[in-house]
Amino acid sequence: MRLSTGIFGLDALLGGGIPKGYVIAVIGSYGTGKTILGIHFIYEGLKRGESCILLSLDEDEESIMRNARSVGMVLENFKNLEVVRLEALEVKKSFEKIENDLPELIRSLNASRMLIDSISILETLFSDAERYHMLSSLKRIMKSAGITAILTSEADKYLPTTSKYGILEYVCDGMICLKMVRKNELEEPTFGLEVVKMRGIKHSRKPKPYAITENGIVVYEEAEIL
Ligand SMILES: Nc1ncnc2c1ncn2[C@@H]1O[C@H](COP(=O)(O)OP(=O)(O)O)[C@@H](O)[C@H]1O
Ligand SMILES: [Mg+2]
Repeated sequence: MRLSTGIFGLDALLGGGIPKGYVIAVIGSYGTGKTILGIHFIYEGLKRGESCILLSLDEDEESIMRNARSVGMVLENFKNLEVVRLEALEVKKSFEKIENDLPELIRSLNASRMLIDSISILETLFSDAERYHMLSSLKRIMKSAGITAILTSEADKYLPTTSKYGILEYVCDGMICLKMVRKNELEEPTFGLEVVKMRGIKHSRKPKPYAITENGIVVYEEAEIL
């Protein structure tokens, strides 16, 4: 079974959406639309009456609601959304608490979709070995709860299809990369979306042009980047 991302062109690239129960990463540099992509996925679930969780490590609830509204998604209308604001430093200090509380939260809400936005700062706070433990523990929790999740994070500065620490692509079932390409410093950038990895799915790796509009992200799956 597939879960629609709420973005028509992206669903088409994935052959219908994200496979149920998958934990996927969305990476890109700042301003590429990672949060908006994640909000699309949550909003689509809300409209379908699914219970959704938004774990926010970057923005407070008001800022999330405002950003969503600016791209045409009014989250305040939905009772089936649980927004949890977490402070990365607190999560780092008591990661066991998250490990204990998260399964219960998912179960009590009977949630089917989750967005963790973003995991970047948290990743930065852990040492190499701890980071792997943290990410695989989160993944294990989501997998055993059967929830379908999107984690957003930074891409490597020089390799846009690699996550900053090179771990997420191994831990997650799939990864989508949002790239900003500037041919010339004085030109407007073009945006390209690439499905870098999606376990068990035949997908193209050709970057497709996308835009952020007042209705959110539009992926032109039949177009080519010029
Ligand atoms: N209504 C809108 N119309 C067009 N572009 C928008 C609109 N709202 C936000 N954006 C663009 O989206 C960007 C932010 O997207 P966001 O998902 O927060 O990026 P990220 O999470 O990758 O840093 C803004 O910098 C802006 O360029
Ligand atoms: Mg963001």
